[in-house]
Amino acid sequence: MATYPNTFRLMQRGCEFLGTETAILCGAMSWVSERNLVAAISNAGGFGVIACGAMTPELLDAEIAATRALTGKPFGVNLITMHPMLFDLIAVCARHKVGHVVLAGGIPPKGSVEAIREFGAKVLVFAPTLALAKRLLRSGADALVIEGSEAGGHIGPVATSVLAQEFLPELAEEHVVFVAGGIGQGGMIAAYLEMGASGVQLGTRFACASESIAHPAFKQAFFRANARDAEASVQVDPRLPVIPVRALKNKGTELFSQRQREVAALLDSGKIEMAEAQLQIEQFWAGALRRAVIDGDVENGSVMAGQSVGMVTREQPAAEILAELMEECETALS
Ligand SMILES: Cc1cc2nc3c(=O)[nH]c(=O)nc-3n(C[C@H](O)[C@H](O)[C@H](O)COP(=O)(O)O)c2cc1C
Repeated sequence: MATYPNTFRLMQRGCEFLGTETAILCGAMSWVSERNLVAAISNAGGFGVIACGAMTPELLDAEIAATRALTGKPFGVNLITMHPMLFDLIAVCARHKVGHVVLAGGIPPKGSVEAIREFGAKVLVFAPTLALAKRLLRSGADALVIEGSEAGGHIGPVATSVLAQEFLPELAEEHVVFVAGGIGQGGMIAAYLEMGASGVQLGTRFACASESIAHPAFKQAFFRANARDAEASVQVDPRLPVIPVRALKNKGTELFSQRQREVAALLDSGKIEMAEAQLQIEQFWAGALRRAVIDGDVENGSVMAGQSVGMVTREQPAAEILAELMEECETALS
């Protein structure tokens, strides 16, 4: 990789933490972040993260082994905290001596951070509020990802720019903090680094890399879309809390509203409990995302994408995207 002195200076702590040349993570994307994209990102000097999603421990085991076969560079594993076999998945990461585990999708359950640290891995967590971030960092988390509502996939309600102003002045001096959501160009990376971030995480920009196995129709949908096409899902029933998901507007968006109404009716009739209702909603997303990413059904599936999708205009190798981001960041800093 070329030298980018100003960028490297500000990324140094993030690079040391990740063991990489650049402190740019490719955030885990279910179905997309598998061996090929993860290895490509890491081989190019970034930090790839396997999306475990709903995988079984056996599938995760195979995915880690296959990724290792493609790269000798560090990469991480993203685990969803509500996975019913979370501790078995952590055991798989331990067997493979995975260096970094990202806990996503909710507050890490009791004992999970400890179980990961026990085998020597570093733990990255998400936190929706400053108070929770402080608590997680006090209780053993090694680094924090703050992710704003511009991002693709499941999102919180607050914009990245606001989270950055709120979290970085309080935490960045002492802790490693990565900023995610809505980053499409290196100039934005420069801004967050100058505010104290140790690095950044991007998803949308990398989803259509040449090495990504996403279906050509999924990639074409990205190339066609503008920022305003990536909409957050709406909650149909006030009693059924649904974590919003940002995806390209299509028939699948309407199917989701319909599914919510069906699940709400089941809840009303007493046929299912709230936990089951929420699980059914999450299962809807997992299935719909697979349909779009793997089968290429971009009409009925879920084309999860962030608002930076307008800046994704063509297929490029991961190394080229990373080099472009670093170049732009360096230009902004000098
Ligand atoms: C298609 C897609 C799938 C995603 N799946 C996951 C996931 O399984 N777990 C997770 O923690 N984040 C997931 N994300 C979020 C990304 O890891 C990343 O944080 C986000 O894309 C960053 O914001 P950006 O899209 O604006 O670059 C997903 C994002 C996209 C676009």
